[in-house]
Amino acid sequence: MSIVGQGIDRVDARLKVTGTATYSAEHKLPNMAYAVIVQSTIPKGRIAAVDTAAAQSLPGVLAVLTHQNAPRLAKPHGSETRQGGGEQSKPDQKQSPPTPRLTLLQEDRVYYNGQPVALVVADTFERARDAARRVRMRYAAEPAQLDFAKAKQQLRRPEPQPGRPSDTGRGNVERSLQRAATRVDLLYTTPMENHNPIEPHATIAQWEGDRLTLYDATQNISGAQRTAALSFGMQPDQVRVVCPFVGGGFGSKGTTWSHVVLAAIAAKAVQRPVKLVLDRTQMYGPVGARPLTEQRLVLGANAQGKLAAIRHDTISSTATLDDFTEPCTSVSRILYASESLQTSQRLATLDVGVPTYMRAPGEASGSFALESALDELAYRLNMDPVALRLANYAEKDPEKDLPWSSKSLRECYRAGAERFGWSRRSPKPGSMRNGRTLVGWGMATATYPANRKGAKAVAALLPDGTAVVRSGSHDLGTGTYTVMTQIAADALGMPLSRVRFQLGDTTMPEAPVSGGSQTVASVGPAVHQAARALRDKLIATATADTASPLHGLGAGDVDAVDGWLVARADPARRDQMRTVVTRAGGQAIVANASAEQGDEKKRYSMHAFGAVFVEVHIDPDVGTIHVPRVVGAYGIGRMMNAKTTRSQLMGGIVWGLGMGLMEKTEMDWRFGRAVNANLADYHVPVNADCGAIDIIVVDEEDRQINELGAKGVGEIGITGVAAAIANAVYHASGKRIRDLPITPDKVMV
Ligand code: MOS
Repeated sequence: MSIVGQGIDRVDARLKVTGTATYSAEHKLPNMAYAVIVQSTIPKGRIAAVDTAAAQSLPGVLAVLTHQNAPRLAKPHGSETRQGGGEQSKPDQKQSPPTPRLTLLQEDRVYYNGQPVALVVADTFERARDAARRVRMRYAAEPAQLDFAKAKQQLRRPEPQPGRPSDTGRGNVERSLQRAATRVDLLYTTPMENHNPIEPHATIAQWEGDRLTLYDATQNISGAQRTAALSFGMQPDQVRVVCPFVGGGFGSKGTTWSHVVLAAIAAKAVQRPVKLVLDRTQMYGPVGARPLTEQRLVLGANAQGKLAAIRHDTISSTATLDDFTEPCTSVSRILYASESLQTSQRLATLDVGVPTYMRAPGEASGSFALESALDELAYRLNMDPVALRLANYAEKDPEKDLPWSSKSLRECYRAGAERFGWSRRSPKPGSMRNGRTLVGWGMATATYPANRKGAKAVAALLPDGTAVVRSGSHDLGTGTYTVMTQIAADALGMPLSRVRFQLGDTTMPEAPVSGGSQTVASVGPAVHQAARALRDKLIATATADTASPLHGLGAGDVDAVDGWLVARADPARRDQMRTVVTRAGGQAIVANASAEQGDEKKRYSMHAFGAVFVEVHIDPDVGTIHVPRVVGAYGIGRMMNAKTTRSQLMGGIVWGLGMGLMEKTEMDWRFGRAVNANLADYHVPVNADCGAIDIIVVDEEDRQINELGAKGVGEIGITGVAAAIANAVYHASGKRIRDLPITPDKVMV
């Protein structure tokens, strides 16, 4: 029976609950100094004068770096710069995120409020923080664009990326709309949101001669390595990045931000290892955010609910320093069959920190608009929301005109509806009260692409009979250690307890960014292939060895089971793996693998799908909204670990509750600074906000996607949830809220 699929406990669980898993800020280096960032207090302009005397004179202060005295870098913005932005035109941005333009004390320009403008290094963190407060800057401020309504008057098209055009269409939307029996034309908005992983961004930098080591909290060790190397004009192999554990990233640690290079600058300046940890407030600006969006959805359908037209126009905010596009239209492009479709992405530029990927970038905010609009259409048509979606089920990818590698969405609707009890819903808004409490049931479709990228791994059998498998990947709390150990154990024919998987070091074989829900689908095949190759080597070594009971057998005649090599025809003929290694000279036997994607994406469209059902309770007097239960049903290919899969999907749903009901970065738009930049004022769901969350993973086999049959589960969980809540709120109260988050004031009015 395979170990993959079982709900194995996390192999790193003990380390985590005992506090012995070493996170980036916890590495202890001798003679370490501490850096604290000073941030700009204006959104736009130039630094006119700098006064560091007070800071400099404090005890223990080792350096105060500003644009006036910081060492000059090979790349002033840390990235390959293009006109007006960073290296954004690489293929498949989502899988290989480019470094955004960084601010590295190389110029006097201020691009946003909160930008790093100085760096104080001291012998203790407290002294550095104290000194940082005493750095004085005088600015020559310039008028900043901090008004989204005005910024919208100068919309720009995002730079086109391969496979992701800014505008798409098929058929004639105008004509189809004219002929449609029913139309909706609606505007939805989503606010700026900030990532709040429990572990803040943190970097420890250490120079040894011209070699740099970074202990960095990142979803992309290779990306940090490349950015640091570029910045200092070094070869990538002069930089080592170490990151065995990440306390949540959600996209904010997928690209490399300024503080990483700044830590290295500081360490160079003071000739000591330097630790730089962002505080919570500093995570609202310099390390990305989900941009705000305004989405117009126009749907036209015939009387039976068959969609004739989908039009989805998205405007998302971006930054002067560099561009980021929130690709909200990606869901509308693929989710439903419609005779015509037109989508567009536009950017409105603000003088704020550069936005970035946040869990299901595009799909999370895009599905809020699309799936709310579907619900509004269902009410116009007097049609059940699930039936409307089934009437428009896309049997193939309508954008690429390709078959799906697998799609179990019908089964997700069925299984989710059944578990939820959807058939007992009375459709009329306000018709399902419980005493004074308004009860609402809503649903939405969930979807996220199944991404994959090339990855490498190495597997070794040690003389003690244990196996070590390595790949330079990451575990963001997602379960990478556990799932890769399972994959390796199965492929090697060894018990889980004798296999160790290691990750998070650029000296290991390269793996891609752990973003886009692609780690299992990318690294899994590399681990599988390396382990297989090792197993084959062990078999070849044994069968060639005259001292082995298996001598003379062919490769196909031997199985690997529980740490033994066993003759298939005669299980009594067997050889223990560790003995094979010892007899061969006692050196570890090693095998490498490099797993690349084939041409399957040319032949199939690959996405995960799901359906989410929620119940809301609204107090009609004060408008508070509670979600006592959620049912999510997902088709995610082969489930790699029943426990971690469920946790990932549940975590996504919990974030969906936050997105639907709580999350919003409140900006003071006079100054372009977040005013709720802390976990007390920026609301995310806590346990008391979450009711029962019931996860169904439907049986799904996908033979096209990769040899493991696995789609990612990191991001699909959040998609659809905010729409399902909005739809349930409408069902409960008759109030249609098109602006997230759905706070009590909006429901009460
Ligand atoms: Mo995810 S937003 O691709 O880390």
